[in-house]
Amino acid sequence: FAFTPANLAWAEAQITKYPAGRQASAIIPLLWRAQEQQGWLTRAAIEHVADMLGLAHIRALEVATFYFMFQLQPTGSIAHIQICGTTSCMICGAEDLIAVCREKIASRPYTLSENGKFTWEEVECLGACANAPAAMIGKDYYEDLTAEQLRKLLDELASGAVPVPGPQNGRFSSEPASGLT
Ligand code: FES
Repeated sequence: FAFTPANLAWAEAQITKYPAGRQASAIIPLLWRAQEQQGWLTRAAIEHVADMLGLAHIRALEVATFYFMFQLQPTGSIAHIQICGTTSCMICGAEDLIAVCREKIASRPYTLSENGKFTWEEVECLGACANAPAAMIGKDYYEDLTAEQLRKLLDELASGAVPVPGPQNGRFSSEPASGLT
């Protein structure tokens, strides 16, 4: 693994933001950029970031395996879908959303769909409990989801569209209400 020249310049700039001796604090942004570059984090990428920061490889691996925002297996070319399965979402229909993922993507999590476009997994609370059930599709939150809406979102994404993130039940318009910006 190697960063592209642009990403390397960006990574080196991040490292300089931290005080001398604290460069290891740049690990999350660097891992994130490595993941954005190749879609998921290979062991080589994790070790490369550790080497850049003067860390033992195991320290970088500890960080990469702790946060569910880091993917350690190949993900769909369009999106990796994370369905919250914690209490609020479970009560409000997360199991129906997971059933859609099993039906439309793959029967098992972390498995590429036949067309290679999607992967999915169940995750713990996404911090959007008030709008349960919630899912992250790529880097965006989709909330107040029904199984039917998730099916439609997946079809739209597969056809190249970019569905509007946020609550899917019209709770808010796509424009922030006055005073909430
Ligand atoms: Fe699903 Fe918190 S329980 S977002």
